[in-house]
Amino acid sequence: MWLKAVALSVLVCAVAAYNSRRFPPGFKFGAATSSYQIEGAWNVSDKSESIWDRLTHSKPSIITNGATGDVACNSYYNWEDDINIAAELGLHFYRFSLSWPRLLPTSFIDKISAEAINYYNKLIDGLIKRGIEPVVTLYHWDLPQRIQDLGGWANPYIADWFADYARVAYRLFGDRVKIWITVNEPVVACDIAYNTGFFAPGIKSPEFGNYLCGKNMLLAHAKAWRIYDEEFRSKYHGKVGLTNQIFWHIPESDEDEELTEMVRQYMTGMYSHPIFSKDGGWPPEIERIIAENSKKQGFSRSRLPPFTKEEIDLIKGTCDYYGMNYYTSRTVRKARDGESIGSWPLQDGAVDLGAVMSVKPDWKKAASMWLWVFNREIYIKENLTRNLKKNLIANVLFQIMFYMCAKFHQDPLSRLGYLTTNIHPSNQTFAFIILVRSKVFSVPY
Ligand SMILES: *[C@@H]1O[C@H](CO)[C@@H](O)[C@H](O)[C@H]1NC(C)=O
Ligand SMILES: *[C@@H]1O[C@H](CO)[C@@H](O)[C@H](O)[C@H]1NC(C)=O
Ligand SMILES: *[C@@H]1O[C@H](CO)[C@@H](O)[C@H](O)[C@H]1NC(C)=O
Repeated sequence: MWLKAVALSVLVCAVAAYNSRRFPPGFKFGAATSSYQIEGAWNVSDKSESIWDRLTHSKPSIITNGATGDVACNSYYNWEDDINIAAELGLHFYRFSLSWPRLLPTSFIDKISAEAINYYNKLIDGLIKRGIEPVVTLYHWDLPQRIQDLGGWANPYIADWFADYARVAYRLFGDRVKIWITVNEPVVACDIAYNTGFFAPGIKSPEFGNYLCGKNMLLAHAKAWRIYDEEFRSKYHGKVGLTNQIFWHIPESDEDEELTEMVRQYMTGMYSHPIFSKDGGWPPEIERIIAENSKKQGFSRSRLPPFTKEEIDLIKGTCDYYGMNYYTSRTVRKARDGESIGSWPLQDGAVDLGAVMSVKPDWKKAASMWLWVFNREIYIKENLTRNLKKNLIANVLFQIMFYMCAKFHQDPLSRLGYLTTNIHPSNQTFAFIILVRSKVFSVPY
């Protein structure tokens, strides 16, 4: 009953936005980067090694043509050019990540790099001077190798080490940075990394690694949010949250409806339910399934580590917005008897759920091997001109928003503003949508 009411109100909102066919005033456009992808200068001044430095140097065959981020866009030196490009594109905000091993060369707070402070200060001040809002991610996958040597995200102490790092960042930059993203896409940093071993830290541990990482990352996020809330919010009035990457899953046939819902819970619920639901903790059905599988496999406890009551309370409610990155979609069906199931989520299977994912024959493949275009209802009728006025209808985004509202929001009415009152400082909550194009601007490097 309640769910139906929520669904209806969101639909009305979506239809209203559809009919007006233009972005509401206050809608912000931005571009996003991450430190390892753009900074280069991997061994400059006192920066220490990250897990991506280690992986690309030690296993060059893992990356196409043995490429590394040693130089990348060289943004450590070319930051002024980058700001000029952002200004030329008319961006309202620019999202970038801090490099933990650059800011804290020992990984811990005993040493804060003066060069790193200087670099990020120049970048933040330069953006603000051009009227571009800095949006800062604390963790976009370049963990200090020294912490990896202690177990990385599988070591529960990482939550405290990350929280210490977050406090340093808020203290140094919080006077000017008002939107913080604690961790970018736990599903990539944990699930893809440990299920495949193709992502740093290059360790394949599909039974345990992904789940240990997921739990500790949620705890790290929660501690970082609480530090902001308790020590900085009254002074700086910013927003802190995490971003999830969400594939949209649709059932291959009517019989796959229930399984598809489990897959959505497995992708989106794992990193949303603990934060946004009334009860907190892992999505209960998923927790039950993994516990049962573990028992059948002969383990004495679930491979998915449970949360204690204190941990559930620590994590619950630790978000000032819902951050979402959307790229692509998949169909879902039950695996056939004896069928081998690919690794979750990129290689199109979910072993613990007995699910196989695929694409429909008419979906087109984009530049990346995993990026299939399903969102055919996105129309961009004008190009990226300076004032960036656009008409865009994103059916898939509405579907996902609709789902999120129905699943996790206890106060659906306050969420109706997500498209129309984006990032308005007086609103309690907001969402921002980052539109992704792999080549908005071409830079020769
Ligand atoms: C830094 O790495 C580059 C390769 O990217 C290498 O040529 C250079 O010698 C290194 N510098 C130091 C100080 O180790
Ligand atoms: C973008 O749109 C503007 C205005 O409609 C037009 O003048 C310009 O040529 C277009 N640019 C490209 C690259 O299509
Ligand atoms: C957000 O704030 C604006 C400006 O104060 C207000 O007009 C709007 O109704 C608010 N929206 C929500 C959903 O609270």
